Amino acid sequence: MSRPRSIADRAGPAIVALALASLQATAADGGKGCADCHPRQAAAFERSAMARAAVTPAFTAERADAADPRRCLRCHAPGGGRGVACGDCHGSGPHPFPPLEQPAVCARCHDAPGENTVRSFLDSPAFAAGLRCSDCHAVADGGFNHHFRGARSGDLLRDAATLRAFLRSEGDRTLATVTIRHRAGHAMPGGTTGRAVWLRISGRDEGGRERLDRRWRFGWNRDREGRWHDRTLPPGRPVAIELPLPSAAGIRHLTIELTYRFRPGPLDTPDPDAVILDRMEIELP
Ligand code: HEC
Ligand code: HEC
Ligand code: HEC
Ligand code: HEC
Ligand code: HEC
Repeated sequence: MSRPRSIADRAGPAIVALALASLQATAADGGKGCADCHPRQAAAFERSAMARAAVTPAFTAERADAADPRRCLRCHAPGGGRGVACGDCHGSGPHPFPPLEQPAVCARCHDAPGENTVRSFLDSPAFAAGLRCSDCHAVADGGFNHHFRGARSGDLLRDAATLRAFLRSEGDRTLATVTIRHRAGHAMPGGTTGRAVWLRISGRDEGGRERLDRRWRFGWNRDREGRWHDRTLPPGRPVAIELPLPSAAGIRHLTIELTYRFRPGPLDTPDPDAVILDRMEIELP
């Protein structure tokens, strides 16, 4: 490719003024001027959580308590600035940049301790089928788009996980088997930091009184010594939970609910963004 021309060669003075004005409002290119010539990509990336990864209230608060706050920027804003920028994925060599290798370019930041998004992706049906990270996270209107949406974009979670339940009698008790399957391209939840999938099985008797309330959390757990434990739902393999229903409780009605949550803490902690992934109601004989 020929050397990229300066923006003044490409456009008249009026457009230059306009482009410069918009450039000032765009920190997503890390001040490298990429937005001058790639305004569509810059505008899309500007909307992503990555572009402001170093200025969110959650990050600022957590970083203030960190033992080594400088380390945080290695992934949240390697070039300084408000967050991840163009060069953090495309590199800093001469323009034009070589095609990106996925998922290697993402692994640098997305396999942090307490996270296995990229490693579990390599073991997923999505990877075996030839999908890349961007095929699920960076598409709009059928084409590639730099918005890199996450779980907060509700449609990524639509039909992302499903429940099945079987009941069987064993002697005088009933066993419930609940199976969870999901379609994320990696362990679910992807990422770390409080994201969790919760399974709740509750039961009521004939009078509508609650007689059973069991909860399971799938995600990363941090123990008191600060070690991380992987309790995520693996990709491509269903997870089954077996629960004997206490026969003395007289349970007539079961509710099984699977919820995606963004906040750490127990299921009762309010989370305005929580999404119900699937729900079943079962009447018992
Ligand atoms: C002066 C204009 C200009 C600037 C500034 C500029 N680019 Fe480009 N870029 C282009 C043009 C024109 C192409 C198309 C080249 C082609 O298709 O051969 C391109 C292509 C690309 C490609 C695709 C490469 C390929 O061959 O697939 C990437 C990625 C890219 N630019 C990233 C960047 C980044 C990141 C920056 C900032 C560091 C940047 N560009 C700055 C004009 C520019
Ligand atoms: C190895 C790379 C890496 C390092 C180092 C790192 N992070 Fe992160 N961080 C990430 C990634 C990737 C995510 C997004 C993953 C996800 O979806 O939860 C993230 C997410 C977060 C979030 C959650 C944002 C949200 O909206 O939920 C906070 C807060 C955060 N990091 C704080 C920190 C702090 C504070 C430090 C330094 C002590 C730090 N991080 C160091 C990679 C890193
Ligand atoms: C999180 C990683 C990441 C960041 C940050 C990023 N890109 Fe990209 N970019 C990609 C990926 C992945 C592709 C390749 C898509 C494909 O293979 O089809 C790409 C493709 C491109 C292309 C060629 C395809 C197209 O959309 O026309 C251009 C130009 C480009 N990026 C510019 C930029 C600019 C400018 C920025 C900063 C504003 C930026 N990128 C930030 C990941 C990134
Ligand atoms: C330089 C480090 C870095 C690189 C490289 C990187 N990411 Fe990220 N990514 C982050 C951080 C930090 C966050 C957390 C942003 C936040 O929530 O504040 C994040 C968040 C995300 C999210 C969640 C967005 C949301 O709305 O919650 C997705 C999806 C994502 N990245 C995909 C990718 C993909 C795909 C690649 C490779 C093409 C990639 N990232 C490369 C650091 C990086
Ligand atoms: C088959 C589609 C698919 C592929 C491929 C895929 N993902 Fe995901 N990803 C999802 C879905 C669905 C979710 C939401 C559920 C969850 O958290 O697992 C998600 C969640 C995430 C999150 C958490 C976002 C948040 O808001 O906290 C990150 C980070 C992420 N993916 C990164 C990646 C990276 C990096 C790759 C490539 C190594 C990748 N994903 C490949 C579908 C996919």
